[in-house]
This record gives sequence, structure tokens and C-alpha cells, in this order.
Amino acid sequence: MPSKIFVYSKSGQSKDLAERLSMRTGADVEDVKVNKYDWPLIGYVLAVRDGIKAAAPKIALPLQLPPSDETVIIVGPVWAGGACGPLNAIVDQLKSQNHPVALALTCGSPKQNADPISKLENRLGRSFKAVLKVPNPDEGSKKTDQNIDDFVAQILEPSVSIPA
Ligand SMILES: Cc1cc2nc3c(=O)[nH]c(=O)nc-3n(C[C@H](O)[C@H](O)[C@H](O)COP(=O)(O)O)c2cc1C
Repeated sequence: MPSKIFVYSKSGQSKDLAERLSMRTGADVEDVKVNKYDWPLIGYVLAVRDGIKAAAPKIALPLQLPPSDETVIIVGPVWAGGACGPLNAIVDQLKSQNHPVALALTCGSPKQNADPISKLENRLGRSFKAVLKVPNPDEGSKKTDQNIDDFVAQILEPSVSIPA
């Protein structure tokens, strides 16, 4: 069972998604704050730069992680074709842990030129247990409800561990 959702949200879309996932899974939502992106204009410029450079800003540490057999859900936006900086920072924390990790991204456009998911997977060093992408125009649609159901069902499936 997942017990923790880590979310970064600059303008609220990812936070809404995290709350929906919390209602479906019972997992607690923990907000990851990075104040530098809140500044008018310069915050946006820094966000674009960190999205392009796949940079990881400093976040309040350490994240309060659940036991390692519990799936951690991470939620945040796409920035400049990449994951937002705070998601990179969360993944850097999880890399050295054994939790199964599920990723939920929000984005402005359904069509992406870059592939933020495989970049994050490479950074994590293992595959995500489940992946969900919610473009802003699809929010509240039946298709998105179905995708959320599928995502949660995948997360709730017990992880299969293959003995060595
Ligand atoms: C700095 C910045 C860069 C963005 N770059 C992209 C992008 O490359 N592709 C995209 O589809 N959406 C992009 N977006 C839109 C966000 O990913 C989208 O609106 C997201 O849902 C915002 O999530 P939030 O409200 O949780 O911050 C960008 C938004 C910001 C603020």
C-alpha cells in the first residue's frame, strides 16, 4: 500500500492531482516547497532553466519516508520539456532507497517533444511502478478519471519480488 505522496506544485494543478490520488489510496500528501520559484518573473525563469538543465534545487531534508516496502507516489509538473526541478531533487533522495516509486506528472500540452519520464527513470536507476500523465486540458475528463483508476490499480498491485 502507498502511504506517502510527495508533491511539488507551483500553480496548484499537481496539488489537486495529489489530493485526488490521496483520496483514492489513503496515502498522506507531503508538500515539497522551493521558495525561489515563487518570485514573480525570476521564479519562472529559474523554473525554465532548471527544467532544461534537469537541475535539482535544495529541498527541505530529509523527506519523511515510509518503510521501504511501501510505494511512494511523486507528483509534479513538466517544465521546459523536463521534470520540474523539485521532482529531480525528490528522485535524488529516493535513488538510494528501495521503495517502489510511482510517478504522476501534470503538463500544459498533451504533446511533448522531450521525454521527462525516461529521464527521471534513468535518474532513479529503476523503473517506475506506475506512470500517469495529466495534460491540463484533459483535467476532469472521463479519460483522465479512467487513467487515474488504472494508475491507482497498478500501484495497489502487490510488488512481485523474485528471489535471487
Ligand atoms: C516554468 C514552466 C515551464 C513549463 N513547461 C512546460 C512544458 O515544457 N511542456 C508542457 O506541456 N507544459 C509546461 N508547463 C505547464 C505545466 O507543466 C502545467 O501547467 C502544470 O500542470 C503546472 O503544474 P502546477 O500547477 O502543479 O505547478 C510549464 C509551466 C511552467 C511554470
